Amino acid sequence: MDERTRLLKDAVRRTAPRRPVNPPIERATTLLNAKAETLRSNALGPGYGISGGQVHAVLREALSELEHAQTVFLAPTGLAAMTIAILAAVEAGDEVLVTDSVYWPTRRFCEHQLKRFGIAARFAPPRASAEELMALCTERTRLILMESPGSLTFEIQDTRAVADAARAKGIRTLVDNTWAAGVYLKPLDHGADISAQALSKYAGGHSDAFGGSIAVNDPKLAKRIDDVIEDFGWFVSPDDAWLVLRGLRTLAVRLPEHERSALKVAEWLQAQPEVVEVLYPALPSSPDHGLWKRDFTGASGLMGVELKPGSRQDAEALLDSLQLFGVGFSWGGFESLATWEDPQLTKRQHQPKRVGPLIRLHIGLEGVDDLIADLRQGLDRYGAATGLR
Ligand SMILES: Cc1ncc(COP(=O)(O)O)c(C=O)c1O
Repeated sequence: MDERTRLLKDAVRRTAPRRPVNPPIERATTLLNAKAETLRSNALGPGYGISGGQVHAVLREALSELEHAQTVFLAPTGLAAMTIAILAAVEAGDEVLVTDSVYWPTRRFCEHQLKRFGIAARFAPPRASAEELMALCTERTRLILMESPGSLTFEIQDTRAVADAARAKGIRTLVDNTWAAGVYLKPLDHGADISAQALSKYAGGHSDAFGGSIAVNDPKLAKRIDDVIEDFGWFVSPDDAWLVLRGLRTLAVRLPEHERSALKVAEWLQAQPEVVEVLYPALPSSPDHGLWKRDFTGASGLMGVELKPGSRQDAEALLDSLQLFGVGFSWGGFESLATWEDPQLTKRQHQPKRVGPLIRLHIGLEGVDDLIADLRQGLDRYGAATGLR
């Protein structure tokens, strides 16, 4: 079935003689019982509001369709989705191997919190092959964390090869699937054990709700994830779940529009004299293009742009000159955004080679020619300030 159908079909199921299309937002800590005898029984469904209501159940089901998963869990943020997934896969004394281009707060969790639990984290070059990753594993390695493409530098990993090689050694694999939004990559179909994503990005799609999802097929792993969520007391507000569900219904229609515009912007940028390289795997010039083409069915709207040499002030002046790009973190909403990212790269162990500042662009749903004109005037200023023009 077409992705657009799969994300909508459950919305019209005949579950009641008459009902609204969308589930109600039920705000509830307490769920009242008609009789004391059902107080501790699960027969009537969850006994406490923390387990979520109808909107959570409908969202989880729709996300299962999206990720081709048996079970999907919700988390209050994308970062929480990653940390829950990691904690479910490891024990004290274990080691996790993490791609160096991981979203940096995920890295921070590995370096700070995992360490406190006696779990070591090591960081691998983002373009390491499956064999190279296996060579970095020890007998303590229990989890490999991929992010494909990686944050800021957009390297693609060979999910299938890594998952197969890891499974043969009893190591689980987790993929941060936020960039592909669950639409353009199905990590579970490629053998990964867990696909997690920030729903705050494309699924929500409107820059107004936080959320995360953790998708799995293995019932044992599902039980461990369920336990982590319950034991740590995680909860997703019904308002946020409702907003994400609303966004999810149009995700498969919005994403191709982001892709069309982003590809046009990326191709255009690549030809500009102020630009060294556009980091976007859908570009045929990308070193990851072959893997991307094999495993992904499309590209979203987020890319990196390495500029010719210039100072921090030059890069900030470029951002300030843009009229159609907001300057702020996060991405995946309808709006175009731009950020200067050099400070985040310094946290990496394996420094990417580059000569100039790194800008991150999110290409939104505005008219693409307007975005290109805006970028052109910004690059004119950058070129003048840096003496390139
Ligand atoms: C790749 C990636 N994963 C996870 C997250 C975390 O999402 P959230 O902001 O909802 O915690 C982000 C946020 O920017 C991200 O870019």
